[in-house]
Amino acid sequence: MVIFGASGDLTNRKLVPALFGLQHEGAMPADYSIIGFARRPKSDQEFRQEMKEGLDKFSRLRPVSDADWKNFTPKLSYHQGNFDDPAAYQALKKTLDEFKKTRGLTQHVCRPALTNQTSSASTTISARKPSRTSFTFALPIPSGNRSGTAT
Ligand SMILES: NC(=O)c1ccc[n+]([C@@H]2O[C@H](COP(=O)([O-])OP(=O)(O)OC[C@H]3O[C@@H](n4cnc5c(N)ncnc54)[C@H](OP(=O)(O)O)[C@@H]3O)[C@@H](O)[C@H]2O)c1
Repeated sequence: MVIFGASGDLTNRKLVPALFGLQHEGAMPADYSIIGFARRPKSDQEFRQEMKEGLDKFSRLRPVSDADWKNFTPKLSYHQGNFDDPAAYQALKKTLDEFKKTRGLTQHVCRPALTNQTSSASTTISARKPSRTSFTFALPIPSGNRSGTAT
């Protein structure tokens, strides 16, 4: 799943803690990935560290146990890009294709993100495995651009 705006407050305070909680409860599949998409350059490691700090502050499971963190951290990676830059989506597609090969995602669908047209304004990337839950995420959009949807 791809979280657009992944260095923001919503991701740090709500989304990642919720996903972490679901994983703790065994409600997530064994082999999923969370790709954070945002503007500032950072490594996967830096992104993971930021998410860990968020979990230590905001997760209902805090303090986060070593065991839970060890299971969750490999799910997280970061993709730097600007919403307005078509090349960022091409690069994201490459990453998803790579994940498809290495992590067993069998299908993903990408649609253009954050257009100004209200009729086609959803930002959606889905990753689906046969016989498993399918995810469609469109989260979150930056303040000032309310044209995205989440399903
Ligand atoms: N915070 C909440 O609890 C909450 C609750 C409900 C709804 N919302 C809504 O969710 C949205 C996000 O809120 P937020 O509080 O997380 O905002 P935020 O803290 O300002 O974070 C915005 C995020 O979007 C990224 N971003 C902004 N412009 C970008 C661009 N052109 N290209 C790529 N990434 C870009 C930022 O990346 P960089 O840091 O790399 O620039 C950052 O990760 C807003 O619409 C808000 O109204 C928030």
